[in-house]
Amino acid sequence: MMRLPPGFKLITLEKVDSTNNEAKRRAEMGAVSGTIVHASEQTHGRGRRGRQWYSPKGNLYFSLILRLPCSATEGLGISFVSATAMCDALAGIVSPMTEVTVKWPNDILINRRKVSGILLESATGINGTLRWLIVGVGVNVSSFPGETEYPATSLQYEGVIGARPDDVLRAFMRHFKRWFDIWENDGFSSIRTAWLNRATGIGKTIKVRVSGKVFEGEFLDIGDDGSLLVERKTGETISVVTGDVFPSDEI
Ligand code: BTN
Repeated sequence: MMRLPPGFKLITLEKVDSTNNEAKRRAEMGAVSGTIVHASEQTHGRGRRGRQWYSPKGNLYFSLILRLPCSATEGLGISFVSATAMCDALAGIVSPMTEVTVKWPNDILINRRKVSGILLESATGINGTLRWLIVGVGVNVSSFPGETEYPATSLQYEGVIGARPDDVLRAFMRHFKRWFDIWENDGFSSIRTAWLNRATGIGKTIKVRVSGKVFEGEFLDIGDDGSLLVERKTGETISVVTGDVFPSDEI
C-alpha cells in the first residue's frame, strides 16, 4: 500500500480511457476532496487544447479531485501549485544539477524537453463557486512520444535508473501538500514567486500561439491571475490567458 500524506485517498486502476474522465465521473458521484484516481494505462489520454496525451504502460497518469470553496479563476492558482510541486518532485528524483524548469502555464521540462503536463478541468455551481476541480497529471517515466510539437523526454531518457510511477506520485503528493498549504494560507503571491523562480524563458524572446496565431515578444512576468505577460517589439504588453509558448527559434 502506497503511503501518501494525510488527506489523500488513492484509487488505483489498470486501464481507463482517461483518469480525468474517470475522476469527473467519480466527482459527480460525490467522491471526496483529495481522491486520486491513478491508472497504469490510458486509451484516450487527453492533453491541453484538445491534444492527445501519449499513455502507454510504464508512465504515470493520475487525476486529483479537489473541492475548494472558491471561484474557477481563484482555482487556477492550483495549476501553478501543481506545476511547482511537480518541478520540485522531479528535481528530487533526477541527478543533482539537472535542469528542471516550468514552462507556462504548467509544463515541466527536464533539460528543456517536456517530461510532464497538467490538465485542469472544473465544474462551477450556480453561485460561481467550484463544485469540483480536477488536476490531471501525466509524467513520462519510462518512455515519451516521438512526434510532438514541443520536444519530449522521459525520466529514464534523462538518466534516472529504475524510477517507478508510484515513486513519482508519492513525491508529487508530498510537495503538492506543502505548496497547497502555502497557497491556502498566503494566497497566490507566494506561489507566483515560487513558480517564477523555476520558470524558463523570463526576459527572453518567446513565441506565443493564441487561437492559431503566433506572435513574438519578451516574456516579462505572470499576472496576479496567472496570465502570461509578453512585451511586443512595439512596446505593447499583452496578457495571454490561454495559449502555447515556444522558444523564439521554434515554430
Ligand atoms: C498537457 O500538457 O497537454 C496536459 C497533459 C495532461 C495529461 C494527463 S495524464 C492524466 C490525466 N488524464 C488525461 O486524460 N489527461 C491528464
